[in-house]
Parts: sequence; C-alpha cells; structure tokens
Amino acid sequence: MTTNAKLSEKTWSKAIERPGVEFGPVPLSIISGNIPSGLQGCFYCNGSGRLERGEKRVGHLFDGDGAILKIDLSNETANGIYRYVRTAEYLEEERSGKLSFLGYGTMPSSSIWNRFFKPVKNVANTSVLLLPDKLLALWEGGHPYALNLENLDTIGIDNLYGLTPKLTYSAHPKQDPLSKRIYNFGLSYGKNTFLNIYCSDSTGRIVQKSAIKLGGAPIVHDFVLAGKYLIFLISPVRLDILPWLMKLKSFSENLLWKPELGTQILVIDRDNLNLISRDVTEPWFQWHFGNGYLDYDGSVVFDFVRYSDFKVNQYLREAATGYTHTPAKGELYNMRLNPQTSKVIEIHCLFDRCCDFPTVNPNQVGQHWDYTYLSVLSSEANIEKEIIGGELARFDYKTNTHSLISLGKNVYGTPPIYAQDLNNPTDAWILTVIFNSNIEQSEFWILDANNFNAGVICRIALPEILPIGFHGAWNPKS
Ligand SMILES: [Fe+2]
Repeated sequence: MTTNAKLSEKTWSKAIERPGVEFGPVPLSIISGNIPSGLQGCFYCNGSGRLERGEKRVGHLFDGDGAILKIDLSNETANGIYRYVRTAEYLEEERSGKLSFLGYGTMPSSSIWNRFFKPVKNVANTSVLLLPDKLLALWEGGHPYALNLENLDTIGIDNLYGLTPKLTYSAHPKQDPLSKRIYNFGLSYGKNTFLNIYCSDSTGRIVQKSAIKLGGAPIVHDFVLAGKYLIFLISPVRLDILPWLMKLKSFSENLLWKPELGTQILVIDRDNLNLISRDVTEPWFQWHFGNGYLDYDGSVVFDFVRYSDFKVNQYLREAATGYTHTPAKGELYNMRLNPQTSKVIEIHCLFDRCCDFPTVNPNQVGQHWDYTYLSVLSSEANIEKEIIGGELARFDYKTNTHSLISLGKNVYGTPPIYAQDLNNPTDAWILTVIFNSNIEQSEFWILDANNFNAGVICRIALPEILPIGFHGAWNPKS
C-alpha cells in the first residue's frame, strides 16, 4: 500500500496529506456566530507545515518545516496570514527540492556528506514566544528564529544575547506574569549532558544562566514554574550516543526506554538558577506540564500529562505517515512535592481520558490557578488510529470536575489557547484551529472558556487546509 493510499483511509490525516500552502494577509469570513467585541489581539500557532519534499516523507511528526498561522482579531473582524519560517535549512531544501538534513526522526538521502557533515535541521516548528518587538519560532534542538510580529517575515536566527552556538533553547519557556521574567532551558549533549537554564528579562534578553550536569543523555521537553521554583521531571529515556554518532539511525530511533532508571526530579531555585534538590521516583514519560504553585505549607503542587512509557514516540513517528497503530494514552496527573528534598508527597490522576497539551490562563502561570484546558481524544475514537483533539476539556480545581465539548464527528482541533476578554476580565475565550475532515476544510473557532455548554461562539473560514499545529500563543491588544 502506498503512503498516499494509507493517507486516504484516515480522516484526520487528510490535514497532513499535502504541505500547507501560504496565504495572506487576507480578510477571513465568518461562517457562523460573531467575534466577541472584547476579543482583540493576535493568535499565533506553530506546527509542522511541510512533511514531505521531493517525494520523500519525513520520519516523524516533529520533523515538518515550521509554519505559523497568525489571526488578527480587531473590531469583530479577522485577518489571517500563514507563513513558513525561512530557516537556513528550509531555504536550502527549497532550492534543492530534496530533504537533505537529519531530523529528530528523519535520515537524509544516502549521501555520506549529508549524514555526517550537515547539521540537524532547525525546523522551528514547535511553539512561539511573544516578545515586545518580535515573535520567536521555537524548536528545542537549536536556537529560536525571530519573525516580524506583523507580517511573519523571517528576521533570522536569534541568540537572545546569551546563547552560544552549542546551547539550545527549548520550546516551552514560562513567563512569570508578575515579574515578566522568562525562564527556559536547553540540553547540551556531549561527554556529559547538561541541563542549561536561562532567565531572560521581558524583552527576551538572557540575563542569567546556569548548567546542571545530568546522568546519561535524556530528553527533556518541558518544565513547570511553581512559585519560586523551576521543576524538571526527567523520564527514563536515554540517547544511545555511539550509534547516534555513527548516524546509522535517527536521533529518535536511538532513544531507549530504561524504566529501571526511574523518573528524576530536579528542583531549581528560580532566583539563582541553582539546584536545590534531586531525587528519583517511579518511571513514566511526559511531554507537557500544566501549571504549578507554591502551597502555604511550603510544598509545591503541579500538573503534568503522564504516559506509562515512551510508546508515544513511536505513535508520533507513525503519525507522520497518516497511519498509526501504536496506542499511547496520556492522562492528567497532579503531584505534591517537597521542594527541599524532591520527595513525592502525593501523586494522583485528575483526568483519566486520553489527553495532552494542558494550558492555563497565562496570568496564573506559577500561581494557584482555576482551570486547565486540554485536548482530548474523542470518546468515539480508536486510540490506536486517531489523534487527540476531537474534544476539549476544562478541569475545574474548585470542584475537581471537568467539562467537555465535542468538536464534532471527524473534526480535530489544535491545542487550546486561552485569550482574556479586554472588556470584561472575568470573560475569556478558548481559541483553536480545527480541521473538519467531513468537508476537508480548516477553520478558526472561538469558544467560551467559562461555558463549554454555549457551544462554538464563532466559526471563521480559513482559505487553505492547515496541517495540524502544535503550540501557540495569544497576544492581546494593549
Ligand atoms: Fe510541546
């Protein structure tokens, strides 16, 4: 069976069947409902826009070229732009018409030169960071790329005045809403692997750094800001360095699941970026954290999406073909921790549906928070064959209950983005880009963050099918 034949069997996979096509700036038409008058600002979402080139397909969903959708909402109207990030490697492959770089899960053409002497492609596809004068397209294996906030023109690679060439800047920075300081990290592999931690001022300029030596060569995708602490959970996945250096298999294929190592917990003081404590607990894997806070008794409480093992990586590898068969279930977990010892005080599952991409009100990051929003696998979906996003959930910490909204049969949404209303600060909206495979159309949807029962508040048509995105952000008008 050819890849295209496989793709045509699936509903969600039609969204990744062909590379996304750039458009705009262009006015967008409203299909139903109205844009709330207090929803004013710009939505940005990054994702793998192009998963093939020259009849060769990438080997992992993480390896598509980054492409960013911007939707400008102003005075109850919408305008859209969709642009690829012009990384150096993207431009070279545009010229050659071939996939010629290593990726996270992709081997280049058989050329020895490509395999050993070219860098891993910076796909700039994972998330965005909003700064006052630029938008950063983030990818955890390298430096960010800066883009023009208005027209998404690529400005160029950006070292934030502090990244040396070997340092990486991960895709899940956390901004403290009070101090406006931005915290992030990056791994550097070598004889020893280091967790490099960064603190930036509100402009993005790195003002403080530290480096913590890790055992082996793990992968780390996200962390959580909880009061005065930065907390890392390092799952027992380790890079098999020698085969990776020999370039016989991709980086992803050299990642080994080693449950006997357990999950390492690292607690960092966010003021001086020094390690406070480190311990080990039972094994699991997680990509994403929700949020965290420092409780009155000195313990820290935070959420994350827990997988029982690393099979989710195989699932995402298969997803690039549009044909998956490996089940991978993430569930929302809550942990209470002693930050002075990294000892787990309590851990339990909050929400046992298959879910991921937790997001919260950005004004509550690092503090006690009210709700977590999640992408959820549809209750009707086969976990082996479908992707999450058929439903959205809102978990309420006051009542320990959740509410759900189904986006509809064969409709798939990108991870929810929270947008506060400018007119009424108690109102907020959930923004998502959906792919309706019934009519093969992408749309931008607005939901009421406080009332999923209200259904979809507004549907806005997009002029092209957009490949399913990863992470985004909302930039409110000031
Ligand atoms: Fe992520």
